[in-house]
Amino acid sequence: APSATVPPFAAALAALAQLVPPHLLPPRVGIVCGSGLSTLAASLQGVVEVPYDRIPGFAKNTVQGHRSALAFGLIGDVPVVAMLGRFHPYEGHPLSAVVYPIRLLAALGVKDLLITNAAGGLNPDYAVGSIVLIADHLALPNLAGPLNALFGPTLSPDYPRFVPLSDAYSRRLRKAVLRSAYELAQEGVFGTRPADATEPWIPLHEGTYAYVSGPTYETPAEGRFLRAAGADVVGMSTVPEVLAAREAGVSVAVLSLVTNAVVAGSKADTFVCREVEDEILGRVQEKKAQETVSHEEVLQVGREKAEVMRQLIARTVAKLVME
Ligand code: HPA
Repeated sequence: APSATVPPFAAALAALAQLVPPHLLPPRVGIVCGSGLSTLAASLQGVVEVPYDRIPGFAKNTVQGHRSALAFGLIGDVPVVAMLGRFHPYEGHPLSAVVYPIRLLAALGVKDLLITNAAGGLNPDYAVGSIVLIADHLALPNLAGPLNALFGPTLSPDYPRFVPLSDAYSRRLRKAVLRSAYELAQEGVFGTRPADATEPWIPLHEGTYAYVSGPTYETPAEGRFLRAAGADVVGMSTVPEVLAAREAGVSVAVLSLVTNAVVAGSKADTFVCREVEDEILGRVQEKKAQETVSHEEVLQVGREKAEVMRQLIARTVAKLVME
């Protein structure tokens, strides 16, 4: 029944009005902190954290490396709210619970949303640890079945039934991110300039995010498939949040941190017949180590790059409000 899926926004807003000091309300910008990136909130001054379990309508968080609170604070004079920890469909949360916090931030007054995530790299030019500004997405679960986060009755008569996504990733926000990256690079935050960098040096990639449901990482064939379909990175979050934000008229930018290279290789790399032939014939051969990705590795890269991400987001927020 629709009424069961409509979240208790009024109760949540009332709770936040009680728990958050008035100078931090309404937040103008929202930040979603991805895996290993909850330290992004260290940019916020005078932080007041509200644990999710004190806000009506929030689901329980289960993924390791994610925290469970909204952090309210200032960046410069700008009131900002950061989600420390997000909800993923693969945890078993209904999509309505995954997007609930985004809808709540929109109801609170957030106009611009900066979303971060950890993602696997599909584009062979992307080194582990690089940051990708998302320009577009490819959402396999959304294309053919009831897995689109906006499936079901629209929550508000003000919302469009058919949400356009050709402009899902705000050009205004993306330009602010790129300009911020340029400035920070000049200041040395991205380390030394590589000899082959072009002028001006903007040390971000721009790319397409493939959204998959997870929780399994991709097989080599799936990695090749997503790459052939035009994706540069792949991850298990973000797209439901982007949809809910766009439905509510909130502008969005997404930054993916490449935490691992997706093992795509060639078909021949995955076949073992050649090895068996060599063994039968007694031919010596070099054993190839089997590569796999682990959640530990994903969290570790997140921690290493969190400081650069933090500065990038803080600079972007400052720029948005100067405009
Ligand atoms: N695949 C999907 N999601 C991910 C990955 C990956 O390789 N790395 C981090 N999130």
